Amino acid sequence: MQLVFDSLTGNVRRLADRVARQVGGVEVLDLRRDAPRGHFLLLTYTFHRGAVPDSTRAFLARHHPHLLGVVASGSYHWGEHFARAAELIATQYHVPVVAKVNKSGTDADVIQIARWVLTHQHAPSPLTLTENVWTPGPN
Ligand SMILES: Cc1cc2nc3c(=O)[nH]c(=O)nc-3n(C[C@H](O)[C@H](O)[C@H](O)COP(=O)(O)O)c2cc1C
Repeated sequence: MQLVFDSLTGNVRRLADRVARQVGGVEVLDLRRDAPRGHFLLLTYTFHRGAVPDSTRAFLARHHPHLLGVVASGSYHWGEHFARAAELIATQYHVPVVAKVNKSGTDADVIQIARWVLTHQHAPSPLTLTENVWTPGPN
């Protein structure tokens, strides 16, 4: 699994780097520059009253088949719109909200996200399971 982030002012980039250090060696990609190879956890932010940033939206339109889960950053003072990008992406692509964090997150957020990555790192995706379903052939 890779960590793919979108970040405008640096909070999400810092969060992704801290999670990678905590996990110990997982690759971190900037979606504005790089394309993932295989499954990834997306870390993004929330913009303009609970919206998904356009850059994240465009990236997911192309790469969503390999999306495993989403982390969104926001700011508590946005109230009901706090980190809402997480729910929007989770609903649209049927993936779990792994965390919603304020700014670049707390140490506890980093540990929780790192645990999720370690647990899911080698888990087969639902797609792989479907592809490998055994069917009887002629005897
Ligand atoms: C113009 C603007 C709109 C924002 N809108 C929201 C919002 O609707 N909900 C929210 O939780 N945070 C909102 N935020 C806060 C950012 O999502 C938050 O600061 C985030 O950590 C930014 O991540 P980045 O530093 O990686 O770009 C907004 C910030 C800006 C500058």
